[in-house]
Amino acid sequence: MTIMDRVGTMTRDELRQLFLFDALDDEQLDWLVEHGWVAEVGTGETVFEEGEPAEAFVVLLSGTVALSRKVGTADVETMRTDQLGVYMGAVQAYLRGRVEQKYIQSCRVVSDARFFALRGEDFDYAVRTWFPMAIHLLEGLFLGLSRSQQIVNQRQQLLALGALAAGLTHELNNPAAAAVRATAALRQRVEGMRHKLSMLAHHELDPKLLELLVDVQEEAVRAAAFAPELGAVEESEREDEMADWLDDHGISGAWELAPIFAAGGTTTEFLEKITTGASQEVLDGGLRWLAYTVETELLLAEITDSVTRISTLVDAAREYSHLDRAPYERVDIHDGLKSTLVMLSSKLDVIEVVKDFDTSLPQVPLYVGEMNQVWTNLIDNATQAMDGHGTLTLRTSLEGECVRVEVCDTGPGIPDDIRPRVFEPFFTTKPVGQGTGLGLDISYRIVVGRHGGDISVESEPGDTCFIVRLPLTERPST
Ligand SMILES: Nc1ncnc2c1ncn2[C@@H]1O[C@H](COP(=O)(O)OP(=O)(O)OP(=O)(O)O)[C@@H](O)[C@H]1O
Ligand SMILES: [Mg+2]
Repeated sequence: MTIMDRVGTMTRDELRQLFLFDALDDEQLDWLVEHGWVAEVGTGETVFEEGEPAEAFVVLLSGTVALSRKVGTADVETMRTDQLGVYMGAVQAYLRGRVEQKYIQSCRVVSDARFFALRGEDFDYAVRTWFPMAIHLLEGLFLGLSRSQQIVNQRQQLLALGALAAGLTHELNNPAAAAVRATAALRQRVEGMRHKLSMLAHHELDPKLLELLVDVQEEAVRAAAFAPELGAVEESEREDEMADWLDDHGISGAWELAPIFAAGGTTTEFLEKITTGASQEVLDGGLRWLAYTVETELLLAEITDSVTRISTLVDAAREYSHLDRAPYERVDIHDGLKSTLVMLSSKLDVIEVVKDFDTSLPQVPLYVGEMNQVWTNLIDNATQAMDGHGTLTLRTSLEGECVRVEVCDTGPGIPDDIRPRVFEPFFTTKPVGQGTGLGLDISYRIVVGRHGGDISVESEPGDTCFIVRLPLTERPST
């Protein structure tokens, strides 16, 4: 038997026993007797299903029901009750025209249940004609709420955009400044080389020596390109060795040249090659010329690094804001996580970041830009909680029909009494001006509202995990 099947009717007095109807007059109750009906639904049967057209407004008379909402493909029970008079179903019928008339949750019978039922249109008609003022108030409240929700959304988007712009500017500034500095230095070195070359030319060099110098220069360039990163101790040892060699060969300004050769991976054996057959003066000039070459090479490498870093950042920013992609599509979940890490790297360099990624995960249908906002909020909170020391762990895995992403930190954790409140809008424990309390609220709405997913938190001191579950199945567009 379904909720739409009429098995009987209620009397005026029976209806008056229900708290929802106790203030109605006889005429109104009679109207309900006439338009409503009693329905019986057996254990395990469904009373109504989330997403289907809301046909009936129902009041529980006996038995037990469970209400649930879909999270991804799983049903999450939100309430279980046997309370006489609880109502559900087409409860928003009187907001027809403003709210889509669909069941917003599912109702299943846990033990044989009886209901008083009313068609949605009838419930709408009754409320509108009997309580016109209440309708105005409700509509006002509803509109006000959605309006303020919209403002909150826009504000959060602006904040996110502001944070993105600030982060990006900060991040771009370092490599850009480094590239400018390196270019200026490079100009000086090239000038120096020109100068040295003309000096060398004045010495009427033996062409063989000149050839050797050019060969050695080529080798020095190659060595500089593959120069291994040295530890501080190793580097100063290498410098000392180089300085001794230069001193032994009567080269002035050894302290200036030694660090350059050391950084460029040039060895003393290597320098030996040009000592043969060269006069002291030529040796001196030749070595300086070589030093300029090595420096030029190092500077060029630095510029390449900086510029690469800039273009990586721009790529990450594009990926992050998702400018060049369709809004909802299947993507690798890790792309967004990685680009968010790049965007936030200035905040992350003092803490350890662990990426525990399951690279075999299938692609997930996402609003990428919006999900990046979620990752940003979660990582932001984690870094703020750790306050400069600790480990941030990003973990991905497959969980049934969902992809599970964990953002964990080793901060102090969220005390039990505030944990239930963290997803509330404007709830923050941060000083005025530092937190708006919107980060988790907006994340919740993006994950649950936009993606049909789920976000939750588990926390104890030293181990706080925000867990996001995203369904692998595409959401029907609403
Ligand atoms: N990883 C975490 N560790 C400890 N507390 C947390 C963590 N994440 C969130 N919280 C708590 O939840 C509160 C709400 O977080 P939410 O991101 O919504 O706002 P906020 O960070 O305070 O401000 P906003 O993100 O808008 O700048 C925080 O103020 C903090 O008390
Ligand atoms: Mg936050």
